[in-house]
Amino acid sequence: MTTVLHSGVHAAVAPAPSHRVDPTLDLEAQIAKLKRALNAVILAHYYQEEDIQEIADFVGDSLGLSQQAAKTQADVIVFCGVHFMAETAKILNPRKHVLLPDLDAGCSLADRCPAEAFAAWLKQYPGHTVISYVNCSAAVKALSDIICTSSNAVDVVNSVPRDTPIVFAPDRHLGKWVMKQTGRDLALWPGFCVVHEQFSHRRIAKLKFEHPDALFIAHPECEEAVLGLADHIGSTSSLVSYVQKSPRSKFIVATEAGILHSMRKVRPDAELIPAVPSSGCNCALCPYMRLNTLEKVYLCMRDRAPAIDVPEGTRVRALRAVQRMLDISAGKTAPQAG
Ligand code: 13P
Ligand code: SF4
Repeated sequence: MTTVLHSGVHAAVAPAPSHRVDPTLDLEAQIAKLKRALNAVILAHYYQEEDIQEIADFVGDSLGLSQQAAKTQADVIVFCGVHFMAETAKILNPRKHVLLPDLDAGCSLADRCPAEAFAAWLKQYPGHTVISYVNCSAAVKALSDIICTSSNAVDVVNSVPRDTPIVFAPDRHLGKWVMKQTGRDLALWPGFCVVHEQFSHRRIAKLKFEHPDALFIAHPECEEAVLGLADHIGSTSSLVSYVQKSPRSKFIVATEAGILHSMRKVRPDAELIPAVPSSGCNCALCPYMRLNTLEKVYLCMRDRAPAIDVPEGTRVRALRAVQRMLDISAGKTAPQAG
């Protein structure tokens, strides 16, 4: 059965598996057993729950996870992250089985950049190189010339000759930050991340005032005014590695709170203060990433579903753009902590 999700994404889905799991089951042991039986690799993003990060073979940022997916010898990739990440793994590995614990784990950036609207918008920009942030659907990747992540967006933009105009999609905040870093003018699709856009200048300034000895670190999906307060800006891997290597021991962290688990592992002595979003809750959680649970990881491996599928024509066009990014970043692995 095929269903269409997240702005035209096509996904092969088996009949919904039962989400009831025997509560006495040792999930970690069962997952380890299934991993051997399937010859599977488990890849997890820093925003996943702690128990998922703990059973993963690799925890990383979008670039690191794509690089792992590109080189894995496993037959099955269990992708503990969101849809566009698993889809990128499938684009790179058409013959492998790529499993996503919850098929509804989307992304606000990807969802707000439908391929049809993007194609129509691009018509205003003939002669432009189209650079798309990896947080987009395979169909949008297929309309792009090069993909980037927050780790390599500056390098990717700098790889384009200076006299060639560039379209950058779908994150306007990352795009603005890249414009500042490169001194280039980019035509920006007006997308944003619902998690990072909640950090406000006023609240961060207050936190900094309350903790004058803390360094403030932020993901480039935050808005410009917030980034203006930051001591360090970078991808999730870059933020973890900055905390690991810093001689300082107090950090205010403006990104999804799942990352604090990896930061605590590399700097158990450090005080980590999650930046408070404007919504009133105490820490920022991505509603999509949080759909994955350890139970669903077990179930997707047991049932070999839900699996990701990408129509071949789209995949081949998207692969060209993903491969260009991997080539630009070859030899430059995402900073690895721990
Ligand atoms: P990273 O590539 O920095 O891990 O970012 C992914 C993401 O979705 C941030 O919200
Ligand atoms: Fe998408 Fe934002 Fe969630 Fe990252 S944190 S997956 S950009 S919605």
